[in-house]
Amino acid sequence: MSADLADFIRGLPKAELHLHIEGSLEPELMFELAQRNGVELPFKSVEEVRAAYAFSNLQDFLDIYYQGAQVLLTEQDFHDLGMAYFRRLAADGGRHAEIFFDPQTHTDRGLPFSVAIEGLLSAMKAAEAELGVTSKLILCFLRHLSEDAAFDTLKAAEPWLDKLAGVGLDSSEVGHPPEKFERVFTAAHERGLLRVAHAGEEGPPEYVWQALDLLKIDRIDHGNRSLEDDALVRRIVDQGLTLTVCPLSNLKLCVVNDMVDHPLKRMLNLGLRATINSDDPAYFGGYLQDNWMAAATSLGLTRDELATLARNSFTGSFLPLADKAAHLAEIDRYLAASA
Ligand code: ADE
Ligand code: ZN
Repeated sequence: MSADLADFIRGLPKAELHLHIEGSLEPELMFELAQRNGVELPFKSVEEVRAAYAFSNLQDFLDIYYQGAQVLLTEQDFHDLGMAYFRRLAADGGRHAEIFFDPQTHTDRGLPFSVAIEGLLSAMKAAEAELGVTSKLILCFLRHLSEDAAFDTLKAAEPWLDKLAGVGLDSSEVGHPPEKFERVFTAAHERGLLRVAHAGEEGPPEYVWQALDLLKIDRIDHGNRSLEDDALVRRIVDQGLTLTVCPLSNLKLCVVNDMVDHPLKRMLNLGLRATINSDDPAYFGGYLQDNWMAAATSLGLTRDELATLARNSFTGSFLPLADKAAHLAEIDRYLAASA
């Protein structure tokens, strides 16, 4: 007998390729860390925090997201944050995650660069041992800050270069085009790092072109607005680049007005290698399972399309080829067993 949709999705082996670890800070943990560290929060209760999560655009969200991150002060805090996320990932059938962190959000508050990265690396190691979940770490530059600040961050990361999969670009998109970071992305590449960038979330197709041509990215984060430009779609299809799409994030940040209008299915029909991801799950109303369910039910995704999305999450990952092949074979076995 075939499993119902929720069970089918939960059991489908999958990876998450677009997750900001600071965006997985649940209000309950925020309060716990605030108390542990003696940090004053501008909210009286968990309910009050959740009520504040009504956003009209990306900047509305970023303002509250950077404020929330201020409770993170020690390696243990980052370890606890990471483990809480990996437990949710494993519960949703996630086998692998490539997670972003924003070191400048922490070093600008006076934390040494080592605190966030060491806490996260220890959580990644524990998640593999305890949950069987593998992961990679991507350092994001905050695009509202300067090119010099990004170079300083890359320099601070030097002792950990072998622990990083790549660099990314996030924060306020409009007004901060990829070209501002061309040189620092080249420097990151010269240090052996892969490159990804948020592009076409709120910004125009021109920003996606720049991310491809100037930053030479290996994967596109969001990419929704690429669909406004046929030549750009052809370029992304021809290059075989993966898009890390985030359905509930797009809804909460008003990138789409209704989930039934979400471009995910159109992306698949155009031959784009789209994936489903949670972005900032504590702020946008759900982890992987919730994102997959929202997209599947609103867009009427078929089991074939869901299987394609699961395969895309591994083929678009930065795992070695042999690991990708092992995950793809696991998907095939799962589909055969649930047919
Ligand atoms: N930082 C955390 N989430 C983000 C998003 N969706 N876009 C840009 N920057 C972010
Ligand atoms: Zn993001």
